[in-house]
Amino acid sequence: MTLSAPQIRSRKRRNGAGALVMVTAYDEPGARYADAAGVDIILVGDSLANVVMGQPDTLHVSLDEMCHHVRAVAAATPQAHIVADMPWLTYHVDSADSVRNAAALVRAGAHSVKLEGGRARREVVRAILDAEIPVMGHLGLTPQSVLSFGGFKVQAKTRAAAEWLIKDATLLQDEGVYAVVIEGVPSVVGTKVTEALEIPTIGIGAGPDTDGQVLVFHDLLGMSKRKPAKFVRQYADVGSLITSAIGEYARDVREGTFPGPNEAYDNPEGLFD
Ligand code: KIV
Repeated sequence: MTLSAPQIRSRKRRNGAGALVMVTAYDEPGARYADAAGVDIILVGDSLANVVMGQPDTLHVSLDEMCHHVRAVAAATPQAHIVADMPWLTYHVDSADSVRNAAALVRAGAHSVKLEGGRARREVVRAILDAEIPVMGHLGLTPQSVLSFGGFKVQAKTRAAAEWLIKDATLLQDEGVYAVVIEGVPSVVGTKVTEALEIPTIGIGAGPDTDGQVLVFHDLLGMSKRKPAKFVRQYADVGSLITSAIGEYARDVREGTFPGPNEAYDNPEGLFD
């Protein structure tokens, strides 16, 4: 059975729940490997723009592109919950359009949607929830705000900004979001917002006390061309493995050792005698 949004909502560490594990995936193999590893949540993140499409930020991915990748992830039929990012400008203009855009991600195979921002998104969160689509929030260093932040900068570094973030998180909780991602804030802010909420927090660069953690697939596997952020732990060097495997294949082709007899079909008798 797929992990549902209400089940995730009840996963608060202070109530004895285990930490939530979330990882991004963008295609069927990635989702299949992540699910086999036992993650709780697969995020089809708009980081797709960075790590798959090679773009400088997440402003460069469309709803159609997100739906295409959600469909591929859903084809893995994971036990893990699939949450899909609503890309930039698909929930900023009009509530009715935002609901239709969230529904497109659900029809592509997502079990819920994630969107960035606090009080400014209150109405749209309410409209999407009213359409029976579970919503995950995302606060702190929200990558879709890169232009207004003037870069990818750690957020909530003053007392006032931290209190603002905690208020935003509480407001999202009161609207009915089932969990909230907290990104790129001092650890103490991750701790305080986690203490303040009844719903789980999922941290990325928010310290050890959040109710779960999320990392980007390509960052944790060492497949990213970008310099990893301070908060990334790289668990493998799959990028080097891929280059070396493809290099061996190229060498074998050039030396005439691939394909070998076991990798070719026998000639039927009488063919070209
Ligand atoms: O798109 C993404 O990968 C994300 C994570 C960084 C939380 O939103």
